[in-house]
Amino acid sequence: MKKILLLGGHGLLGKEISRLLDERRYVLIAPTSAQLDITDYQALESILKGEMPTDVINLAARRNIDELEKDPLPGWQVNTFGAAAIGRILSKHKIRSSYFFMSTSYVFGSSLTAKAEDDAHAPVNVYGETKSVAEELIVHYCGGTGIPFWIGRASWMYGRARESFVDEVAKMLLRGEKYEAAIDQSGNTTSAAEVAGAVVSLCIEKQIACGAYHFLNEDPGRTSRFDIAREIASALAISPERVVPAESRDIFSGGGRPSISLVNTKIPPLRNWREALREYIVTRYTANHL
Ligand SMILES: NC(=O)c1ccc[n+]([C@@H]2O[C@H](COP(=O)([O-])OP(=O)(O)OC[C@H]3O[C@@H](n4cnc5c(N)ncnc54)[C@H](OP(=O)(O)O)[C@@H]3O)[C@@H](O)[C@H]2O)c1
Repeated sequence: MKKILLLGGHGLLGKEISRLLDERRYVLIAPTSAQLDITDYQALESILKGEMPTDVINLAARRNIDELEKDPLPGWQVNTFGAAAIGRILSKHKIRSSYFFMSTSYVFGSSLTAKAEDDAHAPVNVYGETKSVAEELIVHYCGGTGIPFWIGRASWMYGRARESFVDEVAKMLLRGEKYEAAIDQSGNTTSAAEVAGAVVSLCIEKQIACGAYHFLNEDPGRTSRFDIAREIASALAISPERVVPAESRDIFSGGGRPSISLVNTKIPPLRNWREALREYIVTRYTANHL
C-alpha cells in the first residue's frame, strides 16, 4: 500500500492531487505549511524518517514573481533549500521513496522557441533561478542513488482551489468590464486537474523513467494571454472586443514578464488547451452550472 507525503498539498495543484490520492484510497499525509515548514531541515528529517513514505510529492513553493525580485530569500529557502533537503534526506537515510518535484517553465527564462524537457536552463528572474538550482540539486541527490525522481514543469495553471489569471478574466468580463491582456507574453495555459491526473498516473503509479517532464494541455502555437482571454470571452458568449490588447510592461507592476512556451516530447499530450479551458469556464461560470 502506498503511503504518500504531499507537501504544498493545500494549494492549486495540491488540492487536485490530494483529491485523486484520496479517491484511490492511498495513505495520504498532507501537512499544511503551519504543520510542516519545508525550510525546517530537522522537521523534514523527522517526518521522513518517522513516516517512511513510499512517495514524496513536493509542490510547496513561493511563486510571487514580483515579491521575489524585491526579497529573494523566501524563494531560495522554500523553492531551493526545502526541495533539495528532501532529496538529501531520502538519499542520506536510504529511505525507499520516490520523489516528485514540481518546477516551472521559468527555468528557461525567455525564448522565441518552445523549450523541450532537457533543454539548457537560462532563468531570468529569481523564481526561475530558485527552481533551476533546485532541479540541479535534486538530480545530484537522487540521480544514481536508486531514488526514482521526476521533475515536472508546467505554466499558467488554473483550477478550482485558487483563483488564477483565468478566473480574474472571467469575473471581470462577467461584471461587464473590459480586460487588458498582454499580447507579448506567451505560455501554456493548463488545467491543474489534468496535470494532477497525469502526475499521479504516470509518476506515482506507473513510475515512468526518472527525469524532467512537461505537463501541458496541447498547444500547437505560441498562445498569448490575449488569446486566452479572448477564448474565455468566447466560452462566456461575451463580445471578444471586451478583451483589449496591451503590452505586458504596462500591465504588471514589476514590469514585463518573460515569454516562454514548453513542448512535451516524452509523455502523451493532455487534450487541447481550448477544449480544457472552455470546459472549466462553462462549468464554473455559466448560469446552468452555478
Ligand atoms: N500555478 C502555476 O501556474 C504554476 C505553474 C508552473 C509551476 N508551478 C509550480 O507548481 C507547484 C504548485 O503550484 P500551485 O499553483 O499549486 O501553488 P500554490 O497554490 O501557491 O500553493 C503552494 C503551496 O506551497 C505551500 N508552502 C509555501 N511555503 C511553504 C513552506 N515553507 N513549507 C511548506 N509549504 C509551503 C503553501 O502553503 P500555505 O498556503 O500554507 O503557505 C501552498 O499550499 C509549485 O511548485 C509551483 O512553483 C505552478
